[in-house]
Amino acid sequence: MANLTTTYMGVELKNPLILGASNLVSKPDVIKQIEEAGIGAIVYRSLFEEQIQLESLQMDELLSEYENRNAEMTDLFPGLKHAGPKEHLYNVEKLVKSVDVPVFASLNAIYEPTWVEYAQELEKTGVAGLEINLYAVPGYFEVTGESIEDKQVQIVKAIKQVVKIPVSVKMSLFYTNPLNFIKKVDEAGADGYVLFNRFFQPEIDIEKEEYFYPWELSNPKDHMVGLRYAGLLHGNVEGSVCISRGIYDANDVIKMLLAGADVVQVVSTIYRNSPSVVSDILMDINKWMDDKGYKTLDDFRGKLSRKSMKDPFAYQRAQYVDILTKSEDIFKKYPMV
Ligand SMILES: Cc1cc2nc3c(=O)[nH]c(=O)nc-3n(C[C@H](O)[C@H](O)[C@H](O)COP(=O)(O)O)c2cc1C
Repeated sequence: MANLTTTYMGVELKNPLILGASNLVSKPDVIKQIEEAGIGAIVYRSLFEEQIQLESLQMDELLSEYENRNAEMTDLFPGLKHAGPKEHLYNVEKLVKSVDVPVFASLNAIYEPTWVEYAQELEKTGVAGLEINLYAVPGYFEVTGESIEDKQVQIVKAIKQVVKIPVSVKMSLFYTNPLNFIKKVDEAGADGYVLFNRFFQPEIDIEKEEYFYPWELSNPKDHMVGLRYAGLLHGNVEGSVCISRGIYDANDVIKMLLAGADVVQVVSTIYRNSPSVVSDILMDINKWMDDKGYKTLDDFRGKLSRKSMKDPFAYQRAQYVDILTKSEDIFKKYPMV
């Protein structure tokens, strides 16, 4: 049996497989199965300031509706207000206490003071670390990428100043140069990078002529973008590299480790293939390592990273120009007749 232990942002894990942030954490029986299948760590779904604000607003509206209907309501419950993030914090703490693997919290806030306040509150739940879920949905033509990045780097700095637990940055792929942004948050003190988040995009129902948000899971080939960044980052940043998105089986995990990832996160494969996919993945990694004679993950981690390649430009070229210059090869796969 190979040794799959690893560290992620200084936290000891029994293997590199982490359950990514999702609402699977709200199903205790499913979490139990995932833990029994051998998951290395769990990320609790994000605490969203936007959600708290929305709930609070809805509650105020509801109370004022009652107020109009019955004036006694305000006398009976004069100080009634939304409990803020309390319920979320309680649930995170409950999970921390109920599982034997490290639990990480995840946070997305709107205003810097709230980022800082909620980060401190989440730290008190006993989590092993905090994932900062950064995103900026494009909506304004005049907002520059630089101003968004500066604000995000500032949030990382502000949180790092107040919490002791390690902090990772979960980011989207939509930066002009993700490597430059990662370098900036690395210098700001981030302890890890989760690459990449996948956002739900609006779809249009052409019968109703309405927008809607479908529940779309990742597809197996979606891991390829993460592979590139694992290879480019390995050995070039202080923080740990965690690849998320489209990781479905042991082959995908092995590829990420060969490219240089420290750990990976999985969500969609569990929805599609049930919690038992976790034990299948771990068993198959073990088998591959035994076949290859690898005893630990460090025996092969980063073997195919840019740093380990003899030709320093091979990484970019091999993945782009080479393939285009051989574009006739596509007809071997898709003959068009
Ligand atoms: C139902 C569902 C809920 C999710 N909730 C969160 C969340 O609260 N915070 C977050 O950062 N990502 C969330 N994600 C994104 C996942 O953590 C993950 O980054 C994404 O699904 C890509 O990984 P995958 O290909 O393994 O699914 C969610 C994904 C799904 C499918």
